Amino acid sequence: MEKMPFKDAQTVMDVAAGINAAQVVSTETDWRRALPVLTGKTVTLRELRLSDAPSLLAMLATEEVSRFISPPPTTVDGFERFIAWTHRERAAGNYVCFGVVPEGMDTAIGIFQVRQLEPGFATAEWGFAIGSEFWGTGLFMDGAKMVIDFAFNVVGTHRLEARAAVANGRGNGALRKVGALQEGILRKSFLRNGEYLDQTLWTILDEDWRRSKSVWGPKVH
Ligand SMILES: CC(C)(COP(=O)(O)OP(=O)(O)OC[C@H]1O[C@@H](n2cnc3c(N)ncnc32)[C@H](O)[C@@H]1OP(=O)(O)O)[C@@H](O)C(=O)NCCC(=O)NCCS
Repeated sequence: MEKMPFKDAQTVMDVAAGINAAQVVSTETDWRRALPVLTGKTVTLRELRLSDAPSLLAMLATEEVSRFISPPPTTVDGFERFIAWTHRERAAGNYVCFGVVPEGMDTAIGIFQVRQLEPGFATAEWGFAIGSEFWGTGLFMDGAKMVIDFAFNVVGTHRLEARAAVANGRGNGALRKVGALQEGILRKSFLRNGEYLDQTLWTILDEDWRRSKSVWGPKVH
């Protein structure tokens, strides 16, 4: 996660126009054209919209949230460029970014990202960040299950990796809770604030997920 989000946001200059981010498609439809809307118990996951930029800035650019992840954009413009970049990378088939919209709201307060680590997504890496006022609400688990299902069932991933700074208690706790296995420590693998941090490598395999999963599938509209 740490190296993935916002990495290219600052360098992408043109804001894509006219992307129908809210287009609803079925899982049979190619996700490269538009992401499906995934509906959970407490949260909806959907493609980011440029109008999510102010909310994402308020939610994710805080010290508390960004402490252990790549620095998010610091302006609304920066988030708009990031959102436009997520659309282009999705269309290119490299990357998926879902906005996290709690029940009763219509703007995103966080993101789940999945990027391919090899062409075709067989091995992929996911990451996530949610506004701190929504921590501990169950919203993470609700969204995480749908994203993992999406990666294994729709995108075709068989091994889903995540990296969390060892010092990131909540990040590691969240990954443990979702059933990821800790494979090892990546020593001094993440540069943050001028310091190289150790990261934990967490993985979920599709076969393990299918075996352990009960009945939590996403509803796709
Ligand atoms: C990671 C994130 C999305 C998780 O969402 P969340 O709502 O905080 O997650 P949850 O509360 O459902 O789960 C976190 C778990 O870690 C546990 N935890 C919290 N602090 C902990 C600590 N210091 N050490 C170990 N576990 C800890 C929590 O108790 C919880 O487990 P529980 O529900 O069994 O009690 C959110 O914290 C976030 O956005 N953090 C900032 C961005 C980030 O670090 N992203 C992850 C990078 S890998």
